Amino acid sequence: MNQNICGGIVITVLTSLIMKLVVSVIVFALFKLARAQNECTFNVTNPEYEQTLPVLLYNLSSTYELAIPNQGTIVLTSGQNISLLCSGNRNYVRQTNSNVTTVTCLENQDVKLYRKVYKFHDIKCKHAVRGDVRKTEEKCGNGQGVVYEIGYPVSRRDWVTLITVCHVPEIGHTLYTRHLLHGKEIKYASKSSYRPGFSTAGLDSSVPASVAYKQTFQKATFSSILKSSELSNHFVTNKSYLSRGHLSPDADFLQAPTQFSTYYYLNTAPQWQNINAASWNSIEFTVRKLAELYGDLEVITGTHDVLTYKDKEGHVQEICLGSEGKLPVPKYFWKLAYGEKSNRAIVFIILNDPYVQSLENEVFCNDICQKEGFTKKSWKDLHSGYVFCCSYPDFLRVVKTAPRLTVDDVLSNPQ
Ligand SMILES: *[C@@H]1O[C@H](CO)[C@@H](O)[C@H](O)[C@H]1NC(C)=O
Ligand SMILES: *[C@@H]1O[C@H](CO)[C@@H](O)[C@H](O)[C@H]1NC(C)=O
Ligand SMILES: *[C@@H]1O[C@H](CO)[C@@H](O)[C@H](O)[C@H]1NC(C)=O
Ligand SMILES: *[C@@H]1O[C@H](CO)[C@@H](O)[C@H](O)[C@H]1NC(C)=O
Ligand SMILES: *[C@@H]1O[C@H](CO)[C@@H](O)[C@H](O)[C@H]1NC(C)=O
Repeated sequence: MNQNICGGIVITVLTSLIMKLVVSVIVFALFKLARAQNECTFNVTNPEYEQTLPVLLYNLSSTYELAIPNQGTIVLTSGQNISLLCSGNRNYVRQTNSNVTTVTCLENQDVKLYRKVYKFHDIKCKHAVRGDVRKTEEKCGNGQGVVYEIGYPVSRRDWVTLITVCHVPEIGHTLYTRHLLHGKEIKYASKSSYRPGFSTAGLDSSVPASVAYKQTFQKATFSSILKSSELSNHFVTNKSYLSRGHLSPDADFLQAPTQFSTYYYLNTAPQWQNINAASWNSIEFTVRKLAELYGDLEVITGTHDVLTYKDKEGHVQEICLGSEGKLPVPKYFWKLAYGEKSNRAIVFIILNDPYVQSLENEVFCNDICQKEGFTKKSWKDLHSGYVFCCSYPDFLRVVKTAPRLTVDDVLSNPQ
């Protein structure tokens, strides 16, 4: 009897425990379901609508910040806001006719704009956003340049910078650009095939960038500098010419509008096309791989010195695509990858001269490429653009226009 009673109690306790467990599992599941439904997930690299995608910004208390996706999507909680920007000449958010608007996440793809509900990807810009340029008063590049910013005007007061440019306006020469590379996101970056034309925004009106790169113009320029059309025909051919070498490359940015915002003459310098397509491309790729490994890196890309060739009479002449020293062709391009948290940096330098015969006096630091794990056979080919690597202190000793950073060690490539 006692045993039975006791057994009965045990069973009752057990049943109530099981019931409690079942109830809490159900409550937990319902809670999860509710949460999942009250979240918004926007795919921001969908080719169907990314070309007219607005720039996505978070409105923080005193400033705006670019929204960085997570694995290619922007996730918001229900009730959270995101600001959408469509800047540029005759550009606006289609639904509101304004340059900036704010929507509130409801759930899944649904957002609220004023009192109406829209699918997120139906809120579009009239045209592709390509950014704007503003000039600041700040000096840079050892006093030689002025700071310009490529980015987005949000309001009379607010501006969001994507690329910082150190530029010498009188000769249309960019000393360097800086941008942030979000390495962990880079494999989800937009693969948009649309590319805008290059904009002259920010350039001094005396700099003839939009004509100077034309191949017939380059031939004439070389003829005049080298005093020989034969020499000109040797350097400038259908296969060999100076192209608009991106400093901050489009492929370092995540969404279509930010990629489009790299298409400024301000963000380029004259670079031999075969070098651009070979070793320079390879350096850009290497830096993105480094960022995939290390996470966010600041990337600073610049130019150094002016390329020279001997004219018909054997005199050394500086090569510039414009007259009076405008649009000088850099002898070197460089790219510095910097881990701000680790205070580590590495500098890749490329010789922008496919016609170089010998490397005597051309490599200006102790080349640490191999020692630090950057071994690419093609980097040592003169015609594809010879590449060497410098530690930051070594580099700074020669390139006085580079920005000052706190660097404690070399950013190496683990093998
Ligand atoms: C976004 O959409 C495109 C096209 O449907 C798809 O290829 C891509 O994988 C999607 N990205 C994510 C993160 O879901
Ligand atoms: C989102 O925006 C709406 C309307 O602009 C505003 O009323 C609300 O307070 C904002 N919510 C948050 C969380 O900032
Ligand atoms: C804002 O939108 C108008 C059209 O509504 C456009 O003309 C103007 O250029 C835009 N302003 C900026 C700063 O993008
Ligand atoms: C951003 O937030 C500020 C302050 O909360 C507000 O005044 C402003 O209108 C917001 N901007 C947009 C585009 O919603
Ligand atoms: C180079 O291009 C021009 C114009 O496109 C053409 O007339 C010329 O035949 C080409 N020369 C060679 C060597 O391919």
